Amino acid sequence: MAIEFKNNKIHLYNDSMSYIIEISKQNDLLSLYYGARIEADDIECPKRIHGAACCQDGNDYSLSLFAQEYPSAGASDFRSPAYEIETDKGLHTPELKYKSHKIIKGKPPIKGLPSVYTENESEAQTVIVTTADDVHGIEVKLYYTVFEKLNVICRHSEITNVSNPYIYLNNAQSVSLDFPAGEYEYIHLEGAWAREKHIDRNTVHKGIQGFESRRGASGHVENPFLMFFDKGSNEDYGNVYGISLVYSGNHRFLMEQEMYETVRVQTGINPFNFRFKLNKGESFVTPEAVMVYSSNGFANMSNTFHKLYRTRLCRGKWCDKARPILINNWEGTYFNFTKEKLLEIADAASKIGIELFVLDDGWFGKRNNDNSSLGDWYENKEKLEGTLAELAEEMNKRDLKFGLWFEPEMISPDSDLFRVHPEWAVSVPNVKPHLSRNQLVLDYTRADVREYIIERLTDILSNANIEYVKWDMNRNMSDVYSLNLPSDCQGEFYHRYILGLYEVLEKITSAFPDILFEGCAGGGGRNDPGMLYYMPQNWASDDTDAVERLYIQYGGSMVYPASTVGAHVSAVPNHQTGRTTPLSMRGTVAMNGAFGYELDLSSLGDYELAEMKKQVEFYKSIRELVMTGDYYRLLNPFTSRHSAWMYISEDRSKALVYYAVKEVRPANETAFLKLKGLDENAEYKINGEIKSGKTLMNYGIVIDINESDCYSTIIRLERV
Ligand code: GLA
Repeated sequence: MAIEFKNNKIHLYNDSMSYIIEISKQNDLLSLYYGARIEADDIECPKRIHGAACCQDGNDYSLSLFAQEYPSAGASDFRSPAYEIETDKGLHTPELKYKSHKIIKGKPPIKGLPSVYTENESEAQTVIVTTADDVHGIEVKLYYTVFEKLNVICRHSEITNVSNPYIYLNNAQSVSLDFPAGEYEYIHLEGAWAREKHIDRNTVHKGIQGFESRRGASGHVENPFLMFFDKGSNEDYGNVYGISLVYSGNHRFLMEQEMYETVRVQTGINPFNFRFKLNKGESFVTPEAVMVYSSNGFANMSNTFHKLYRTRLCRGKWCDKARPILINNWEGTYFNFTKEKLLEIADAASKIGIELFVLDDGWFGKRNNDNSSLGDWYENKEKLEGTLAELAEEMNKRDLKFGLWFEPEMISPDSDLFRVHPEWAVSVPNVKPHLSRNQLVLDYTRADVREYIIERLTDILSNANIEYVKWDMNRNMSDVYSLNLPSDCQGEFYHRYILGLYEVLEKITSAFPDILFEGCAGGGGRNDPGMLYYMPQNWASDDTDAVERLYIQYGGSMVYPASTVGAHVSAVPNHQTGRTTPLSMRGTVAMNGAFGYELDLSSLGDYELAEMKKQVEFYKSIRELVMTGDYYRLLNPFTSRHSAWMYISEDRSKALVYYAVKEVRPANETAFLKLKGLDENAEYKINGEIKSGKTLMNYGIVIDINESDCYSTIIRLERV
């Protein structure tokens, strides 16, 4: 791996990938190539382009002809700009010119923002390219990091007001890529509450297309992730570019196919209601975009993201450690619990080998429904019949760790906190705010709010043996206005909120390094890499139905590793869908992630508890592989009745094959599971038989059972 500068070209490469930038005669930064490894010396910007003589020397020099690295607005490129500014004098057509560059080892952190990291400088190299417009008085630094062992390039930019009294930054994208004319498709992960991360595949067409969040969070509706690929690509074939934005707020992904059929792809902060004032000398840093290239389809891209995110985005003690199996009381009791009930559930959990008890919503203030108390982070001793410390001790006596739910970014109008500090809620003065789940958002742009939350959580986490925290966030932002910001800085709110959140998360997670944190936002409303930097797992969805989870987890697996996916067995009929699925299938599906239970175990009969005990034992024997194995999708639930996927250890000696059928049909297809990633020259033991890797990958495993609705199985393979 290296970054080389030669003949006015910057070549970022490793053994299998190249990214080449050319500095033109006019000192513009042109994109020459991004894809499989090539030689930079062999290529240059074409002499004729789009049918016109290439006019890098002429008077008619137009940036709209060229593929660019970080296009400006209004200086002869008519496509979507990567950033937009307006100076105090009204200038708004900057043109960035190359000034210098610096190549460094490793990857510097981004202050105040989450980002991928290196543990050793030899893992990656970074080039920082400085560009500027002297008339507009701005400088833009572009950061590019290339990894040696993974096909990963990380990009972000830093925009500085060098010489104006002030400027407004109206748009700040993290990355802009120009792909040559071609036929492309894309996948994004769309959804809704309880239906997150569904695959939506489209053909790229002329004009602008894309997706975004305007919700103040990355959102249930559009995950901040794009797969852009050659038409016809599939799991094993095609040039695929995965782009993931390490950001938890309003994002935008845009694709623009213009008249020459080239495609511009961008992602960064959503320009919606965004205007950031930069006084002289101040800079704005964009979030990081992580780009993964695969020359052979989706599976390879996913495995690159999984490895990177598991080991170089998640941090701390739990980053890629096997997770404890938990019982969460939410769907078991909702708000309606007593200490006795919790301990009954704990007794049952402990008997079947569960390792962690999570007390969900309802333990603080006067909270017995979702109408009140958010912000009043004081234990309700009456309801708990004692302290949290005592409850934790009871759990520990039963060999269970103790975990607790918080929703620290919210405030209930019916709370002591609101009665004292109404100005801490996000709302527009003199306008009745729109409540959602009866609550308002706390203004995290305010230092006093952040200090209060840190003080409250620190107090609670220090005074009881709490070993797990579920950090929830249950509404989108509306009525956005902060009393903390001057009138011409209200456009900074959304981003400053996220910066405030990241500051709080950094402080809390580093003060309690042993606690396992799980992010949640009404399920998957903030399942993004920004949150994973602070919390190594995310509750994937409030939908615990095993069939629905097949879709949610299939979509999520495109980018997020199983170690980061909270998945629970819940009661039937399912509380979200009313569907009844067998316990075996609920177990199979939930074992495709950080496994747990979420139901009233104390109300179950011996038969079910005995089944669950077996599930717990089984999961303990496979969880290491689930946490760290390579992942292959075998059958797609969106296009088939069947669903199948597998994990395989890095040394290819152990594998797990999961299979589930949603509904049985007469006279229908038999599923053949053609395995992937095995050693084709090795033999594997499977269901007591020995079969060759070749056979298992080409002929496959035949599911020749008498099908029933929601039949499922997990098959183990071991190399002999
Ligand atoms: C959200 C979460 C649930 C649960 C409730 C508690 O909906 O996603 O898992 O914690 O809040 O109010």
